[in-house]
Amino acid sequence: MNRKFFAYMTAFIITLTATLAEGDTLPIPKQKWSFEGPTGTFKQDALQRGYQVFKEVCSACHGLNRISYEKLMGIGLSKNTVKALAAEHDQPDLNDEGQPIQRKGIISDKIHSPYANDKAARASNNGALPPDLSLITKARAGGSNYIYALLTGFCAAPADTPVTEGMHYNPYFSGRQIAMAPPLFDGQVTYTDGTKATVDQMAKDVVTFLSWAAEPEMEQRKQMGVKVIFYLLIMSIVLYLSKRKIWKDVK
Ligand code: HEC
Repeated sequence: MNRKFFAYMTAFIITLTATLAEGDTLPIPKQKWSFEGPTGTFKQDALQRGYQVFKEVCSACHGLNRISYEKLMGIGLSKNTVKALAAEHDQPDLNDEGQPIQRKGIISDKIHSPYANDKAARASNNGALPPDLSLITKARAGGSNYIYALLTGFCAAPADTPVTEGMHYNPYFSGRQIAMAPPLFDGQVTYTDGTKATVDQMAKDVVTFLSWAAEPEMEQRKQMGVKVIFYLLIMSIVLYLSKRKIWKDVK
């Protein structure tokens, strides 16, 4: 009786695991990022390369609507460069009579979105919505490591896995099929600093840039944290010494 029960349970667990594993994703490998840890910082050259990848590749389908052109001065671009970038796109606005107009872009405008609205975005992407990337490294479990794994993880589907038309196999995406075609291929951009534009390099750079975009104030926050801890340490010593002085006569 016991043996039978044990056999049933084993069969049940095996079936359950197999069912759960189907459509499940691969574990996300961890990468080394310069911005990790309590004193990690963003490297400006990587940020600028990452912005170049975003602008030349990703921005064809994805917006970055929480970042203004002005904010890009934070990755080391000059005011004139930022002005020129903003002026590349006209922006919708209202004139003094309240009529809708298009005016030249200025640096306080948000980075230009490729589509006017979500419906237009879906219509151009087979019904799938390319999400805004402003907070994507915070919005997905696995963060920067996940986005990197996704960008570099496209591969041929195993023989027994049918891939729906218009979808692409990617073992890191939930369900393993994504509507985004592999966006990166070797040599796709020409880096101005001479770095070789491999898929791996571009993915690392664009993920660094997107991690910055999700929290441009990260470095100030960490610096503040270090200062606060230093202050608390000094305060503790001062308070300890004064306590000893005040209580020294009390036995
Ligand atoms: C030709 C259009 C196109 C381009 C170019 C493109 N994407 Fe996408 N992307 C999409 C679409 C469509 C989706 C939605 C996929 C889905 O839901 O199946 C998507 C989804 C994503 C997601 C969300 C994945 C998730 O977990 O939901 C990320 C992150 C992403 N893209 C990053 C990028 C980056 C970074 C680039 C530039 C290197 C890029 N994409 C270039 C169309 C594009």
